[in-house]
Amino acid sequence: MSAAQVRAAAGRVVTRVAAEGRSLNEILPPALARLSDQRDRSLLQSMCYGALRFLPRLDLLLQLMLDRPLRSRDRQLHGLLVVGLYQMAYSATPAHAAIQETVQAARLLRRKDATGFINAVLRRFQREGDALLQETDRQESGRYAHPQWLIDRIRADWPEAWESILDANNSQAPMWLRVNRRASSRESYLEMLAGAGRDGYPSALAPEGVRLGEAIPVQALPGFGEGLVSVQDEGAQLAAHFLRPREGERILDACAAPGGKTCHILENCPGVDLQALDISAPRLEQVRENLTRLNLQAALACGDVLEPASWWDGRPFDRILLDVPCSATGVIRRHPDIKVLRTEGDVAGFAARQGEILDRVWGLLAPGGFLLYVTCSILKQENDEPVQAFMERHPEAKPGLKFDRLGSADSILQSRWGIQTLPQRGGMDGFYFSGIGKPGG
Ligand SMILES: C[S@@+](CC[C@H](N)C(=O)[O-])C[C@H]1O[C@@H](n2cnc3c(N)ncnc32)[C@H](O)[C@@H]1O
Repeated sequence: MSAAQVRAAAGRVVTRVAAEGRSLNEILPPALARLSDQRDRSLLQSMCYGALRFLPRLDLLLQLMLDRPLRSRDRQLHGLLVVGLYQMAYSATPAHAAIQETVQAARLLRRKDATGFINAVLRRFQREGDALLQETDRQESGRYAHPQWLIDRIRADWPEAWESILDANNSQAPMWLRVNRRASSRESYLEMLAGAGRDGYPSALAPEGVRLGEAIPVQALPGFGEGLVSVQDEGAQLAAHFLRPREGERILDACAAPGGKTCHILENCPGVDLQALDISAPRLEQVRENLTRLNLQAALACGDVLEPASWWDGRPFDRILLDVPCSATGVIRRHPDIKVLRTEGDVAGFAARQGEILDRVWGLLAPGGFLLYVTCSILKQENDEPVQAFMERHPEAKPGLKFDRLGSADSILQSRWGIQTLPQRGGMDGFYFSGIGKPGG
């Protein structure tokens, strides 16, 4: 496929995310599947991720260069322009090639009428890029490439660390693996990786975690098909350890899909009776596929955690993992479209729902049971605040998360009600964990 065709595809993907509010997870895979060459796929992926990662900055740049905003019928041109600007500002592609191929991509998208316009905008950036970027830096959303509301929220919640969080959000996340204890040990898997010419480094925090020196397609991972490893962030791998499942216990994974944590619990403690629930049937199918690849067993149910009557048999659970839907502001490195898709109002909506879900699952927990509340958010409104409100509504509940083993790690912060990991360059994603114990039993 020609370089211009890949750019046209990238422009289309960015337009569907930025203008139509679709998620990258939904739009990118089919676009990648249409490309047969691995190099084209890598190029498409890096252009889409890059353009969306820096979109707030690239949009400001465009504003500076355009006399008036683009009309809604020119949405595709916006997608193409930001992909072109991303390449010129952030990639090693020579400017003349980026310009030529973006212009050619406009022809492929049947916008021959706009080729002069695209050429003029990108050439102006080629001539005046340094001054324009300096001008963009005057606004925080341009300098940090985040929407202003999110900068304000992160700064308010993390007055010491906000700049390094924003910086980490703009970097590419490393690829973390979780070695399947039932099939291998971390040491033997590291040897296997070395034998395949790949660099891997053990995690200091997650006992099964390995960071790859360089990201590779999952199919190229030694032993992936045989279930020796899975891809899972280092921070996400802490959940199964914090849950502390024991043989014979009845466990509910209440928001389970795609099943990363479900499978980790079963790998570490195959003797549990695990119920995996998710509201989305297609996502629950991913749980099934992961269980099959790893040769693990769980009972699967498609249902709403808020309506247990439709899926619960009435037997209380000894432990509940509650990995609630959230703003996902801790995983922006991996999902840069969150910067575009989320609004400040969404966060309040998530927080209200999280409180409701906490209340509902509390009734499903056996006396003496343990609930682990998890988000991939770094906003206190979805973390300590709903837990604090829950504790006020349920004075019988006890904080129950012990983390002595991780106490000295500087990448993990202890908060009033839980533990927060923050996204870091080259490190883990941002997760929040709070353990709540039920008296009795
Ligand atoms: C953060 S993801 C879970 C990730 C998963 N625990 C893992 O480690 O792979 C949240 C999940 O909650 C599910 N969900 C959202 N609302 C739900 C509800 N009311 N009842 C059950 N599941 C729900 C979503 O479909 C989504 O799969």
